[in-house]
Amino acid sequence: MESLINETLNKNNFEIIKIIGNGAFGKVYLGIEKQTKKPYAIKIQQKHLLILQKQVEHALYEFEILKIISGINNNSKNKSNPSNNNLNITPIRNDSFSLIHHFFQDSKFIYFVLDYIPGGELFILMRKEIKFSASDARFYIAQIIDALDTLHRNKIIYRDLKPENLLLDSDGYLKFVDFGVAKKIENKTNTLAGTPTYMAPEIVKQEYYSFEVDWWSLGILTYEMTVGLDPWDEKDPMKIYEKIKKGLILFPKNMDKKLKNFIQHLLIGDPNKRMGSFLNDNDIQKEKENENLMNQNNINEKKKEIKKINIYEHIYIKNYPWKELRNKEIIPFYTPKIKKKDDASNFNEYQDDDDDDIEIEDVSEDKDPFLAWKW
Ligand SMILES: Nc1ncnc2c1ncn2[C@@H]1O[C@H](COP(=O)(O)OP(=O)(O)O)[C@@H](O)[C@H]1O
Ligand SMILES: [Mg+2]
Repeated sequence: MESLINETLNKNNFEIIKIIGNGAFGKVYLGIEKQTKKPYAIKIQQKHLLILQKQVEHALYEFEILKIISGINNNSKNKSNPSNNNLNITPIRNDSFSLIHHFFQDSKFIYFVLDYIPGGELFILMRKEIKFSASDARFYIAQIIDALDTLHRNKIIYRDLKPENLLLDSDGYLKFVDFGVAKKIENKTNTLAGTPTYMAPEIVKQEYYSFEVDWWSLGILTYEMTVGLDPWDEKDPMKIYEKIKKGLILFPKNMDKKLKNFIQHLLIGDPNKRMGSFLNDNDIQKEKENENLMNQNNINEKKKEIKKINIYEHIYIKNYPWKELRNKEIIPFYTPKIKKKDDASNFNEYQDDDDDDIEIEDVSEDKDPFLAWKW
């Protein structure tokens, strides 16, 4: 991984070009590092707001997860700590994530310096294209499957899969941004998190839930990509929640059969039956048992044992050229237009209200939980 040489960077090392994203607790800027002239996305969040809205812990998860996926080890949490090795952790294939390159803070803000992904949000492409064909959509869906699978293997639940958080890189391949509600979990969790449209029923019902929620979100996203609107078609979160709990999903008549079946298996209300990539402890156990069964040549038993479908085995996606995809040998059906490396024309225009900064509250050192963060 490339990293900046200067360990004591601060905001003065960057020339801020413009706002490219507006978030709940701050903004994302395109900035050029003055020495190397490299573009970065700088996610700047207000300490004061994060404290006020009790989001410090989530912000810390985001920071820690960004470091994990970026291959950054620090302080005591390094290789010598056995707790990092007890899960047969597969190395992170981090090709699909916008990585962190630096972190710093001042009395008002925390700053995440990330890879700049210049092609803009998948959201904007979906608006332009209206919908993707069943065949084209697989290019994005397959990448998302691999990325979720990688996160889950490392016990990270993403929880905010949506087209605003998927960006197009200059080569037309996807990058995940926004680990703002992602979390490392051992088993289950129960915080209400995510974006209503993409929330799994078990979250809405405030039950304990696990990695399966990300596969549900992929079902909604796949529907939206290929139908042209999401299955709830509502703005009011309360109405969305009601529809999610009811679980009635209508499909267009002429929909590709394999695609429809794929979505239906992702949108199974019972998380234990929902299609996914088989990666919680139960699944791993079952897989092991399965191997034993296979050794005994008892394939029928295997079918009985496992009721839910492994997503990689689903007919819609099974024959996708995975190897070529992972080697980035597939030519995307859409490649964003990028005029220069710091081109921000693929992003929405946001008002730059610079003077606002002056009014943002300082957090005094004795009350600042961020000072303990280690880079
Ligand atoms: N690394 C990046 N490169 C380019 N644009 C980014 C990057 N990270 C975020 N953005 C833009 O900023 C928006 C908000 O960032 P995000 O991390 O999703 O913040 P929030 O947690 O507030 O949703 C994204 O939807 C995207 O448009
Ligand atoms: Mg976001």
